[in-house]
Amino acid sequence: MTLTRIKKAKAGMLENIRESADAVRGQGSLVPEIAIILGTGLGDLAARIKREAEIGYKEIPHFPISTVESHAGKLVLGTLGGKKVAAMEGRFHGYEGYSPQDVTFPVRVLKELGAKVLIVSNAAGGLNLNYKKGQIVLIEDHINFMGINPLIGPNDERVGPRFPDLCAPYSSRLMNLAAAAGHEQKIPVSRGVYVGVLGPNLETRAEYRMLRNWGADLVGMSTVPEVLAGVHMGMEILGVSIVTDVCDPDHLEPVDIKEIIKTANEAGPKLDKLLEATIKKI
Ligand code: HPA
Repeated sequence: MTLTRIKKAKAGMLENIRESADAVRGQGSLVPEIAIILGTGLGDLAARIKREAEIGYKEIPHFPISTVESHAGKLVLGTLGGKKVAAMEGRFHGYEGYSPQDVTFPVRVLKELGAKVLIVSNAAGGLNLNYKKGQIVLIEDHINFMGINPLIGPNDERVGPRFPDLCAPYSSRLMNLAAAAGHEQKIPVSRGVYVGVLGPNLETRAEYRMLRNWGADLVGMSTVPEVLAGVHMGMEILGVSIVTDVCDPDHLEPVDIKEIIKTANEAGPKLDKLLEATIKKI
């Protein structure tokens, strides 16, 4: 995107956010405390929400429209684990051609609606060879290797600061609650560093080797932009990955996306249980 287009997109951003939030409020009166973004193949958590309202992205002004088949593209408002939540069933990726500002626009709307906590889930490749397929990992930090950033362009101080601090983007409090929930539910959880890549191709062996050497445990094509927008707005963030494939550069086998979605779907119920138990504790 050219600088002029970014400037145009950013001018009036808060007005657009407010307009979108008003449209959502028009569908129900629930004020969400917690915003949830569901990753590839992990949409089932929304089914556990006691629904108060459901609104298709198409009906929300300024919302981008999801193009990925496995993503439904709707916002679900209701109660989960005794808390008021708003869950995005379907998210936007840079590789689909959306600008980073578009990718993160829904998070900004959820914050405007009242959410102070942001829970982000994703399917990720496991760079840490101790991980197994289907393993749940709490994201304790990230590396932005996506080459994009939703915070570039003019900054609206009413939304957040020009130079947000990133010394602790992922909340230790929330990680500890998730770890405690995992313990209670007998669901093993690890912690790791997530590196965000733009995609859409999977990585070469040389890239996997490099990312591991950088200290990353997980690799995926999402999450980093939403987390940056969340931090920008002062949200408390929990990031959770499901390892869908093992990225061992020395024994790399071709993965196909169907296999990744299948693994995410199989591990999904475990993640749903963990997140619901965590939300109860928030
Ligand atoms: N690389 C990038 N994104 C991914 C991967 C991967 O290996 N697995 C699941 N999402």
